[in-house]
Amino acid sequence: MRVPFGTMTITESARIRMRDSTENARISCGKYVRELETRFAKLVGVEEAIAVSSGTDAVTLALASLYDKGAKRGDAVIVPALTFPATVHAVVHAGFQPIFVDIERQTLCIDPELISDSMARQAIAIVPVHLMGKMAPMADITYLAMKFGMDVIEDAAEAHGGMFLKKNAGSMGNLGCFSLYIAHIVSSGEGGMITTHSKEVADILRSLRNHGQACSCADCIMKYGKRCEKRFADGGDRRFEFHRIGYSSKMNELEAAIGCGNLDVFDGTLAKRRTNMFYATEKIRAQFGEFLWTIREESYEQVGPHAVPIVVKGDAPFTRFELMRFMEEHDIETRTMFDCIPTTHKGFVGKHRPGDFPVAEFIGRQGLHFGCHQDLNQEHMDYVIDVIAEFINQKEGE
Ligand SMILES: Cc1ncc(COP(=O)(O)O)c(C=O)c1O
Repeated sequence: MRVPFGTMTITESARIRMRDSTENARISCGKYVRELETRFAKLVGVEEAIAVSSGTDAVTLALASLYDKGAKRGDAVIVPALTFPATVHAVVHAGFQPIFVDIERQTLCIDPELISDSMARQAIAIVPVHLMGKMAPMADITYLAMKFGMDVIEDAAEAHGGMFLKKNAGSMGNLGCFSLYIAHIVSSGEGGMITTHSKEVADILRSLRNHGQACSCADCIMKYGKRCEKRFADGGDRRFEFHRIGYSSKMNELEAAIGCGNLDVFDGTLAKRRTNMFYATEKIRAQFGEFLWTIREESYEQVGPHAVPIVVKGDAPFTRFELMRFMEEHDIETRTMFDCIPTTHKGFVGKHRPGDFPVAEFIGRQGLHFGCHQDLNQEHMDYVIDVIAEFINQKEGE
């Protein structure tokens, strides 16, 4: 049996949209991108969603939109010490400086208790990451953000369908950012989405994704071969006026077509992934609790079922890599749980010392995750459990 980490759902409805795009040679950002944006906004419960070319760009552009509110290059942004590195790359790409904060062991997300007043006073924004679909402590984060005047940019790349106190991931901060990459719950192959309650910020983001150009209509009529009345209305050409330093980060119609198809089957995908995730996490706790830790869903939240995380306990008679290797040898694809960025990522080491972020360092050293996606079922989860049991039996016998 094979247990791949991710899968790619391309529905028949997506194929119809793709055929329409190719037959009409309408590939760049158009009606399917707009359909995906409108439906994604509805799903998350926000006013607007802006499609971009990756989850990394979603966080980058969300942060870059803060320049319109007076942010300055080099300003500080608070991030968790452990996350997929794209979160922190985005801070740097947008021109800001990360301030790293350790994570909580139970949620795998930023620990608000460790955000000091002086950090919060320096920072213009905080980027909580809902890692593995587990919700960051949004009540405390929102309180701190209001107290110190920070914007909240949720990195919900791994948390489609997640909820905190019945509020959707991506709807609680000033901006929400999603990845639509292959392994994610809503996927367009490659892609990202930014969510916001503000139409004004949505316009800034549409401008940012297209080189900072002045015009930012949600649905550009010129894309359908029509003449735009607004283009020369101010005496210049709004299409070639640039109001801010922008990016080239549009989504194309083929990606959007796949994304729309994923939205057509969203409820079924979410339910299947949640069933797989809970089935596996309950078995891991019951059978391997002595050596392995995994997440639980708390009463205040709904976990967005991205993958199944495991942390090898410190006193286990084996290492994380020994377990990963055994799983891979049995055709179960695994991923680490990333790294403690300030102490292990070569682009950031130097400023901090080993020991500065004990939880992030521990999870970075001991964590792994495997897939629970919609093309897997109970048999696959049973197979993973059997393989882990075989591994632990062998190790205990050594
Ligand atoms: C937490 C987090 N943020 C950002 C990203 C970046 O998304 P992308 O790979 O679409 O650029 C990812 C990707 O998986 C992620 O897991």
